[in-house]
Amino acid sequence: MSNYKEMVKKILGKSENPPLCYLHSFGCQQNVSDGEKILGIFSEIGCGITSDINSADIIIYNTCAVRENAENRVYGMIGELKHMKEQKPDLIIGICGCMAQEEKNVSKIRSTYKQVDLVFGTHALSEIPRLLYEVLTSHKFVSDISEYGVSSSEIRAVRSSGFKASVPIMYGCDNFCSYCIVPYVRGREKSREPNDVLDEVRELAENGYKEIMLLGQNVNSYGKNLENYINFSELLRKINEIDGDFRIRFMSPHPKDCTSELIDTILECDKVCKHLHLPLQSGSNEILRKMNRRYNVEKYMEIVNYVRSKVPDFSLSTDIIVGFPNETYEDFLKTKEIVQKVKYDNIYSFIYSKRTGTRAAEIEDSTSDEDKSRWMTELLQTQREISTEHYKRFVGRTLDVLFDSESRHDGMLSGKSDEFIIVEAPCADKKLIGQRRKVKITKAFNWALSGEIV
Ligand code: 5AD
Ligand code: SF4
Repeated sequence: MSNYKEMVKKILGKSENPPLCYLHSFGCQQNVSDGEKILGIFSEIGCGITSDINSADIIIYNTCAVRENAENRVYGMIGELKHMKEQKPDLIIGICGCMAQEEKNVSKIRSTYKQVDLVFGTHALSEIPRLLYEVLTSHKFVSDISEYGVSSSEIRAVRSSGFKASVPIMYGCDNFCSYCIVPYVRGREKSREPNDVLDEVRELAENGYKEIMLLGQNVNSYGKNLENYINFSELLRKINEIDGDFRIRFMSPHPKDCTSELIDTILECDKVCKHLHLPLQSGSNEILRKMNRRYNVEKYMEIVNYVRSKVPDFSLSTDIIVGFPNETYEDFLKTKEIVQKVKYDNIYSFIYSKRTGTRAAEIEDSTSDEDKSRWMTELLQTQREISTEHYKRFVGRTLDVLFDSESRHDGMLSGKSDEFIIVEAPCADKKLIGQRRKVKITKAFNWALSGEIV
């Protein structure tokens, strides 16, 4: 790789100003994290980075394949680049990420979107210098979706935030939930060496990062391929011991192997945020079985009951899929019942999207789209009522908030509490963005809390 790095550096170095690279990541945190690494590579080979697409010499779309609407959006956006390429023929357009890992998308891009120069998959990050070299020297369409098995963990990221950082602890997924494309586009599960993870967190803490988000498709299975096995709870405890004023989040555990050890670890480690994102997907055992989730509602509720027996209003959030093939209204009502029982602070709900290549895509679906949309509206309404009521428990309490932006409301800053709830507070000092402060909550809405900085 280093040879190509030098060669491409030489070609790019010939232009008066360094070429500017614009990157847009779609989808999940893992993809955003990959995007930061891709920018890291472009910066190493001598590119500048821009957030203005119009001034870019290289445009990269780092795509998501989890749902069809995400894909359609990407295709729409690639289409819009045609005009730009006509006006700027030297512009290099690259498509990468989960969509790019699928052969059918590579063919479609190649045949229909002639403005695209380069397509590379999720395993080819370290090949970027070579691929770019080929684009620059051949002026032909270049694609690479091979599975190199090379870890991207050594690539230095160009991080988009100076105070919040994502740290992948594992890559890929072995679960094969029947609706999900991720195992096909991100490959088999592989954990990073604990010392690599610890070194990265240590460096971030030393550089003043205030929040570290540990990433994995199923963090509970962390460690399985390691020579010296340590489990996720042990890793969390080691990270918790690192000096520094930072807090730790992680995304996501899988209910099938979420243990009481993990819950105890969250509760005992002072840096670990008191929040658990526990994807339910469905409240119907029949649907969970068809989803190949390998837990049932009873097992799921055992975890909820365990954490709530320790902290009665512990903050939980979840992912839900509405309208899995042949789901009935009775199935949906079971999901709604769990949502009402658990009282999540946030739910992320999605209408089932058929992903070619997955097992669920082979099921003939007799549930209508209209029914699915109606159930989705019903679920969102239920959750709105729950959060309106449930958020009130914070009024009068003081929460630890990391401010991350200016609010849409004038003179207010916005951030996230430990519990992963949006908190706004009046503050004219923008220097507090990137800082943690205690906020005394005075008001609860159904989407956020507001209060005064203590
Ligand atoms: N259709 C709808 N939602 C999906 N998810 C994953 N695959 C699909 C699909 N085919 C949702 C799940 C997962 C979240 C990241 O995306 O709820 O937890
Ligand atoms: Fe997809 Fe299931 Fe793996 Fe999550 S755990 S990425 S839903 S297959």
